Amino acid sequence: MAHDALLEGLNEALNREISTVLRYMLQGSIIRGRQNQSLRAMYRAEVTDEIGHAQYLADKIVMLGGVPVLHPDLSPPPADVERMIDNDLAKEDLDVAHYKKLAELADRAGDIELKMKMEEQAADESHHADELRRMKA
Ligand SMILES: [Fe+2]
Ligand SMILES: [Fe+2]
Repeated sequence: MAHDALLEGLNEALNREISTVLRYMLQGSIIRGRQNQSLRAMYRAEVTDEIGHAQYLADKIVMLGGVPVLHPDLSPPPADVERMIDNDLAKEDLDVAHYKKLAELADRAGDIELKMKMEEQAADESHHADELRRMKA
């Protein structure tokens, strides 16, 4: 049961990551204007971090005997940069909370490697949230 909850949580995190990869990739393409180029560069750089998170999760799901299943959020990103930042900030904060919960589940399962990786990914998302807060007008 606990094992199922862990696999389910990891797969949900995988889908959150893949959705973020797609959103940041698209936002890094559609943002225009010289005043928005640092925001564009930030999204493009963070795509790499999120792919790394997604790859770790997919690998771990398989090693725990599960099957990674993708159902990413394909809704178009906001057109306005301020709404983009607010949308992503809310999602990064949720990701931090989700990874903290996964770290607890991993701890209870006695999986020290997974616990530490979930804490590391929580820290990465917390850093992404800080970068977004810094971008706010
Ligand atoms: Fe991530
Ligand atoms: Fe992130």
